[in-house]
Amino acid sequence: MLVLGIESSCDETGVALIDDRQGLLAHAVHTQIDMHRLYGGVVPELASRDHIRRVIPLIEQVLEEAGKTKANLQAIAVTQGPGLAGALLVGVSVAHALAFALDIPVIGVHHMEGHLLANLLADPAPQFPFIALLVSGGHTQIMKVTRFGEYELLGDTLDDAVGEAFDKTAQLLGMSYPGGPGVSALAEKGTSGAIELPRPMLHSPNLDMSFSGLKTAVLTAVQKAPDAEDETFRANLARGFVDSVVDVLAAKAIKALKQQKMKTLVVAGGVSANKQLRERLRAETAKRGMKVFFPPLKLCTDNGAMIATAGLARIKHMSDEEIARHFKNLKFSVKPRWQLKEAAADL
Ligand code: KG4
Ligand code: ZN
Repeated sequence: MLVLGIESSCDETGVALIDDRQGLLAHAVHTQIDMHRLYGGVVPELASRDHIRRVIPLIEQVLEEAGKTKANLQAIAVTQGPGLAGALLVGVSVAHALAFALDIPVIGVHHMEGHLLANLLADPAPQFPFIALLVSGGHTQIMKVTRFGEYELLGDTLDDAVGEAFDKTAQLLGMSYPGGPGVSALAEKGTSGAIELPRPMLHSPNLDMSFSGLKTAVLTAVQKAPDAEDETFRANLARGFVDSVVDVLAAKAIKALKQQKMKTLVVAGGVSANKQLRERLRAETAKRGMKVFFPPLKLCTDNGAMIATAGLARIKHMSDEEIARHFKNLKFSVKPRWQLKEAAADL
C-alpha cells in the first residue's frame, strides 16, 4: 500500500511517500525557519501562507523522486492536530481534496503519534511495550505505550515544554530561533559545573516536570553577568542549562522505566536530536541493562515520513468498515489542541 504523508502543523511543510513493503520511498521537508527567525519565533499567519506555497510542489517532488504518480496513491495521512489551526488547515484541506479526487481514504494523524512512530523507521526499530519520552517544542511527556494506539500519560510538564526552554535560552544567549541545535553546540564548549542551574522537580515523587523556573534562572544569570557576551560565560551557561535539562529528563525517564518495570525507552520529538540527551540516555540505560531508541536524526524534527508511518499503522489497525468511512469525506476539521489519548480512542 502506497501512502502519502503530509505535515503542516507548525513551521515545516513535510511530505513523504511510504510503501508498506518497501518502506520510505521519498521524503522532503521545507522549513520556514529563515522566515520566522526575523521575528524570534513562529508567526502563525506567515506559516499558513508559506504552507500553501510549498505543499503541492513538495507532493510533486516526492512523487517524481519515487517514480510514482498520483494514480498510484492508495491513502493519504495528514496531521490533523495539535498545532496552529491555520497551518493545519492547509495540509488537511489539500489532503481531503486530493483524496476525494483520487477516491482514496484520508486518515487524520496526531502529530505526537507521528513523532513517536518515527522510531519505526529506525533500524533496529523498538518493540512494544515501552516507555516513551516525547520532547518537542510543544510537548514534554512521559507515556506508557503498551501497544500501537494504547498510550497512558505518566508525566507531563507543568509549564514550558523542553524545546521551548531551549529556544528561550538561545534567545537570552543572543542566538537565533530555533535554539536547540545552537545551545547544544555552544554547551559542548562549556565546562560542566562552572555555572550551576536548578534542576526543577528532579526529586519530586511523580513524573511531572517544569522548565519555566530554569528559563528564569538563565535570565537571572545573564542579567547578573559582568559581560554577558563573553564567550566563556555563554558556553558555561549553555552547558549549565543543558546539564540541568538532561539530568531531569534522564532521571524522570529512568524512574518511569523502573516504576513500570519496563526495559525499553523510546525518545521522540525535535529535542530527541539533542546530542547530550542521546549520550546520557544511552549511558543510563546501558548500565541498567535497558535499551533506548531514537528516530533517525533527520526524522527527529517535523517531517512527512512520520505522519505517513503513523497513517499506515492506523490503516492496518482498522477494519474494512472503518476504512470505508474515510472515503469521499468532504467534511473535515482540524484539532489544534488534540490530546494523544483522544486520538488513541478513535481507533
Ligand atoms: O518536534 P519539533 O520539530 O516541533 C514540534 O513539534 O514542536 O521540535 C522543535 C523543537 C524546537 O524547540 C527546537 O529548538 C528543538 O526541537 N530542537 C532541539 C534540537 N533540535 C531541535 N533541541 C535541542 N537539541 C537539538 N539538537
Ligand atoms: Zn513536532
